[in-house]
Parts: sequence; structure tokens; C-alpha cells
Amino acid sequence: MISTANRRRGVSPRWRRAAALAAVTIGLLAAGISCRSVSRSVVTLPNVPGAKYIGSKECEQCHEDITRGFRTADHARLIAEGPNALEAGCESCHGPGSLHSESGGEVKPPYSFTSGRPQRGSAGPRMAETPPRAVETVCFQCHGDVRGQFSLMFHHPVPEGRMSCIQCHPPHKGNAYAGGGSALLSQAEMCLQCHPAQRGPFPFEHEAMREGCSTCHAVHGSINAKQLTVRDSNLCLKCHFQQVKGGVILIGGSDHTVRLRQGACWSAGCHEAVHGSRVNPSLRF
Ligand code: HEC
Ligand code: HEC
Ligand code: HEC
Ligand code: HEC
Ligand code: HEC
Ligand code: HEC
Ligand code: HEC
Repeated sequence: MISTANRRRGVSPRWRRAAALAAVTIGLLAAGISCRSVSRSVVTLPNVPGAKYIGSKECEQCHEDITRGFRTADHARLIAEGPNALEAGCESCHGPGSLHSESGGEVKPPYSFTSGRPQRGSAGPRMAETPPRAVETVCFQCHGDVRGQFSLMFHHPVPEGRMSCIQCHPPHKGNAYAGGGSALLSQAEMCLQCHPAQRGPFPFEHEAMREGCSTCHAVHGSINAKQLTVRDSNLCLKCHFQQVKGGVILIGGSDHTVRLRQGACWSAGCHEAVHGSRVNPSLRF
């Protein structure tokens, strides 16, 4: 039996939005950038000595494709306030672009992520040496709490420089989750590009997969192996009720009294095929 209340709460988009906003607020405070409103995504852009903000319209002249696509991007919805207020578009990540624009692209924007000569007097990360980590640094200016998540023991190898945030969160177009669209299925699609072993179709599907991978995995980081959100059988019991009848523990109508003591539900000999099975309806292998 399934507890629907719990299932919905686990992945509610509203919850995620709230978490994102709270996260951003904390991030902004930590970075010393002020955020006046929590209900809208207002950012105050930092100063970079020697450079001025010119607005995303200027970028369009030379970067037409990116600018056009950007209208659909989550980050296009940011509103700027404070002395640098123009529009917190391209420059919210790349920094003020006046010198870059005046030089016709010769001088790089303060935050670009390829090697080469950075803009004179640019503050923040020198992106030339370690491009992927410089991307992180820019994202962390506003998403400070994500940094903490990546410092947990089991995480995607972003801090190690083997992966970048943008492999899961494309910055220039559409939904900030790779895969496009807000559907959980497309988020899973993104994961499956790198993790083909978890891809079906499985004749014996595990319906939990429809709730998205994040139901069970905290991909920024977790204290549990395999980036699991919960380390033991409680991971499964949040959806699969446990009933006690006459001293017997029933899960899914079957006696689990002895089995539960043998370890997590997915341990050897039990439900090893948690992502779906090609042969066994009880997802045993
Ligand atoms: C006058 C033309 C021009 C304008 C205006 C302009 N750029 Fe560029 N930009 C270039 C050229 C040329 C390059 C280098 C060629 C390339 O890689 O596309 C470049 C490269 C870049 C890069 C990549 C740098 C690297 O190599 O790592 C970024 C990021 C960038 N521009 C952002 C912006 C932003 C943001 C704006 C608006 C604030 C802007 N540009 C406005 C011409 C321009
Ligand atoms: C959320 C942060 C963010 C925003 C907002 C953003 N960018 Fe970028 N941009 C990046 C990152 C990160 C990279 C590095 C991509 C890579 O390594 O493949 C990048 C790379 C670039 C490049 C060089 C590589 C390429 O794809 O050609 C250009 C040019 C560029 N951005 C222009 C823009 C323009 C123009 C805008 C606004 C319309 C913009 N960016 C908005 C984060 C951002
Ligand atoms: C100038 C501050 C700023 C920077 C820099 C920034 N973000 Fe964001 N980001 C925000 C804000 C504010 C939101 C919330 C947008 C909203 O929901 O209206 C957000 C939303 C997001 C979301 C969630 C979207 C959603 O709908 O839940 C992701 C994912 C994200 N950002 C990733 C990144 C990545 C990756 C980078 C670096 C390439 C980055 N951000 C750089 C401010 C920023
Ligand atoms: C392996 C893919 C992956 C990588 C790498 C990744 N993320 Fe995420 N990120 C996700 C997923 C999936 C979610 C949605 C989590 C959920 O549904 O609860 C998310 C959510 C977010 C959010 C919105 C919710 C929140 O926790 O604040 C932000 C902001 C964000 N990521 C920023 C980043 C930044 C910054 C980096 C790089 C340091 C990064 N992510 C690297 C997959 C990834
Ligand atoms: C761009 C490729 C890429 C994407 C996209 C990606 N991952 Fe990963 N994933 C990796 C890499 C690389 C590792 C680390 C493997 C290692 O250290 O050997 C990893 C590790 C993991 C692990 C831990 C595996 C273990 O044995 O400990 C889990 C779980 C995981 N990813 C789930 C996800 C989920 C869920 C998503 C989508 C939200 C996702 N991944 C998206 C590349 C990716
Ligand atoms: C119902 C919970 C649940 C869901 C949903 C889920 N996983 Fe997992 N996943 C697990 C458990 C439990 C393990 C650990 C299995 C083990 O240690 O044998 C795991 C392990 C993994 C591993 C490591 C595999 C290995 O061989 O060590 C990867 C990669 C992974 N999951 C990716 C994904 C992806 C991608 C998705 C979404 C398409 C997803 N998972 C959805 C529960 C889940
Ligand atoms: C997000 C909710 C959710 C989570 C978490 C979840 N499941 Fe499921 N599971 C379902 C749904 C829905 C079904 C299909 C309905 C049913 O059979 O009760 C299902 C079916 C199953 C079945 C097949 C039952 C049968 O005989 O038909 C097994 C076995 C199973 N889950 C094991 C697990 C294990 C092991 C875990 C923990 C790693 C887990 N589930 C976590 C939702 C979930």
C-alpha cells in the first residue's frame, strides 16, 4: 500500500520553488549581495572595478542566438535593484560587460569560463586555470547553500573538477534543469544520459521511478552512500506502509518480520532491482 500524501510531498514543485528561493536568499546574504525581497527574485549586482553594466540588449548585437534563447531561461526572470540595476540578465553571471563590449570581444567579460586573458581589474575567480570550478564559484555567489551540499561525503564530482553544474543546469535556455521542461520525466532523462544502466524499459517497472530520481537521491550531496536521501529501509517505507498484525510485520501484504532485520530492503537477496526488473515482479533481481 502506498501513502499518497507522502509521495506527493516528496517532490512537490511548490516545495522546490520555496527551497530554491530560501536557498538563494541565504546565498545572497553569505555573498554579501543583498536581496530585498524573498517573494520575487531580486538581486543586487556586485561592483567589478573598471567595468560597467550595459544590459543584455547590448549582448544581442554579437551573441544573437544565446540572447534569443535566453528569453526562455529561468535566470532571465531575475530583477536587479541597487546602483547597478539595469537588468540582471547575462551580466548576473558574466559580470559587467562594458569593457568586453567596447573591445569588440577582445577583452573577456569578468566571468567567462575559458582560458585566456581575463578582463583587467576583474574581481572574483580567475577563470583561466580551472574553468569548471570557476563556473561553480559564480553559481555559489547566489546559491551558497549548494556549496555546503557538495561538501557532504557522497556527491557528484563537481568539487573535484570532474563535472560542472551546467551539465545538469544549462544556463542559457529554458528550464534550469537539463532535459528541458518541468516534467520529472525529463529530469530523469537527463540523469539517464550518464547512467544508462538505470534506463528501462523494464517489464517490471518500479512505479517510484515516475516520481523522479530525486525521491531517493540527493545528487548535490548526501551523508549516505550512493547519494541516497535516507540510508536504510525507511527510504522505501515512506511509500510502502508497514502493518503490524498479530505480531507479524506486513509490507505489501507479505510477511517481512524476519526480512526487515536482514538489512536495507535493497540488500542482497531482497529487492536488488530497485530501479526496475527485467525478470522479477518483486524487483528481486
Ligand atoms: C561588439 C560585439 C560584442 C558584444 C556587444 C558582446 N560580445 Fe561577448 N564576445 C564577442 C566576441 C567577438 C567574443 C569572442 C568570440 C567568441 O568566442 O564568440 C565574445 C565572447 C564572449 C564570451 C566567451 C568568452 C570566452 O571566450 O570564454 C562571453 C561569456 C561573452 N562574450 C559574453 C558577453 C556578454 C554577457 C555581453 C553583453 C554584456 C557581450 N558578450 C557582448 C563580442 C561581443
Ligand atoms: C546562470 C548563469 C549564466 C547566465 C545568466 C548567462 N550565462 Fe553565458 N555562460 C554561463 C556559463 C556557466 C558558461 C560556460 C559554458 C560552458 O563552459 O560550456 C557560459 C558561456 C557563455 C559564452 C561562451 C560559450 C558559448 O556558449 O558560446 C557566451 C558567448 C555567453 N555565455 C553569453 C551569454 C549571454 C549573451 C547571456 C545573456 C543572454 C548569458 N551568457 C547568460 C553562464 C551564464
Ligand atoms: C545573480 C544571482 C544568481 C547567479 C549568479 C546564479 N543564479 Fe541560479 N537562480 C537565482 C535566483 C534568484 C533563482 C530563482 C529564480 C526563480 O525561481 O524565480 C535561481 C534559480 C536557479 C535554479 C532553480 C530553478 C527553479 O525553477 O527551481 C537553478 C537550478 C539554478 N538557479 C542554477 C544556477 C547555476 C548552475 C548557476 C551558475 C551557472 C546559477 N544558478 C547562477 C540567482 C542566481
Ligand atoms: C548531477 C546533476 C546535478 C549537478 C551536477 C548539479 N545539480 Fe543542482 N540540482 C539537480 C537536481 C536534480 C535538482 C532538483 C532537486 C530536487 O528535485 O529536489 C537540483 C536543484 C538545484 C537548485 C534548486 C534547489 C536548491 O537546492 O537550491 C539549485 C539552485 C541548484 N541545483 C544549483 C546547482 C549548482 C550551483 C551546482 C554546481 C555547484 C549544481 N546545482 C550541480 C541536479 C544537479
Ligand atoms: C554529465 C553526467 C552525469 C549526469 C547528467 C548525472 N550524473 Fe550521476 N554521476 C556522474 C558521475 C561522473 C558520477 C561519479 C561516479 C564515480 O565517482 O565513479 C555519478 C555518480 C552518481 C551516483 C552515485 C553512484 C555510486 O556508485 O555511488 C548516483 C546515485 C547518481 N550519480 C545519480 C544521478 C542522478 C539521479 C542524476 C540526475 C539528477 C545524475 N546522476 C546525473 C555523472 C552524471
Ligand atoms: C525508489 C528509490 C530510488 C529511485 C526512485 C531511484 N533510485 Fe537510484 N538507487 C536507489 C538505491 C536504494 C540504490 C542503491 C542500490 C545498491 O546499493 O545496491 C540506488 C543506486 C543508484 C546508482 C548506483 C548504482 C550502482 O550500481 O551502485 C545510480 C547510478 C542510480 N541509483 C541512479 C538513479 C537514477 C538515474 C534514477 C532516476 C532515473 C534513480 N536512481 C532513481 C534507489 C532509487
Ligand atoms: C515514491 C514512492 C515509492 C518509494 C520511495 C518506493 N516505492 Fe516501491 N513502489 C511504489 C509504487 C507506487 C509501487 C506500485 C504499487 C504497488 O505495487 O504497491 C511500488 C512497487 C514496489 C514493488 C513491487 C511490489 C509488487 O509485488 O508488485 C517492490 C518490490 C517495491 N516497490 C520495492 C521498493 C523498495 C525496495 C523501495 C526502496 C528502495 C521502494 N519500493 C521505494 C512506490 C514507491
